[in-house]
Amino acid sequence: MNYQWYPGHMTKAKRMMQENIGLIDLVIELVDARIPISSRNPDIDELGRNKFRVILLNKSDLADAEANRLWMTHFKDKGFHALEVNAKSGQGLRELQGIVREACREKIERDRKRGIKNRPIRAIVVGIPNVGKSTFINSFAGKACTKTGNKPGVTKGKQWIRMNRELELLDTPGILWPKFESEEVGRNLALIGSMNDEILEMTQLAGELLVYLLAHYREQLAARYQMSGVDDRTTAADVLAHICENRKCYKKGQEPDYDKAASVLMEDFRNGRIGRITLELP
Ligand code: G4P
Repeated sequence: MNYQWYPGHMTKAKRMMQENIGLIDLVIELVDARIPISSRNPDIDELGRNKFRVILLNKSDLADAEANRLWMTHFKDKGFHALEVNAKSGQGLRELQGIVREACREKIERDRKRGIKNRPIRAIVVGIPNVGKSTFINSFAGKACTKTGNKPGVTKGKQWIRMNRELELLDTPGILWPKFESEEVGRNLALIGSMNDEILEMTQLAGELLVYLLAHYREQLAARYQMSGVDDRTTAADVLAHICENRKCYKKGQEPDYDKAASVLMEDFRNGRIGRITLELP
């Protein structure tokens, strides 16, 4: 399948980031814990060159716990400040203020030497569509405020959000990039729902997900759809046919509705109902 989705509003959003980057000390990059490499936008590396960086492994509740540990080690080994979080529940966010301070230690020190007091760290929050940026900002604003007793307020134009005396955030729209490195990257982004589903061949995509799940998460898959006898010989088509039966996906005249079964599977996967699944490992 040809995965490509770079609508005009993303070009515009990228320009907005380029225009603001001069004001920024820190890039807070949200990645999806289920696809921590495929969800990293190479344009952000270019844009955020020479800026401090924190990587948030978000939606960690949907990803394999062991894989999360491997990814955290991977990013730390690469010299990044990284944190495993669940923006929805707020888990992990308490540690962020400390990590931001650590990541920006050089700037804080520089300001102190120059006698500049109380200049907040300015951070840009970036990530692909649907990675959880809004959820993160809302949750973190809550946490940051409980901690400092400050109220979040909007400052300097509408996208700047004042978290507390130490930190201001610039929210940005989720963007992808014009050409994915490989079909696998495109497929992973499509699977987690960062692309517009309307441009995708969903039943084929579900088939590819099934091939992966059969190879790596066979027991969880079998348990979710009460399928017995799943083994090395079981194919994606077998599972899809079973989901038709198990979830009563039929067209008129009892003909199996594979498209419907595919959408059941995709929704179950995206909502974590098959279990905690990671699609790529370091
Ligand atoms: P965006 O601004 O980057 O586009 O993402 P947004 O915050 O709108 O989040 C996209 C979806 O991901 C939302 O679900 C949100 O609840 C969910 N989400 C964000 N962070 C996490 C996380 O750490 N774990 C889990 N499990 N989900 C997360 P939604 O279905 O669109 O909305 P809702 O029904 O949850 O309100």
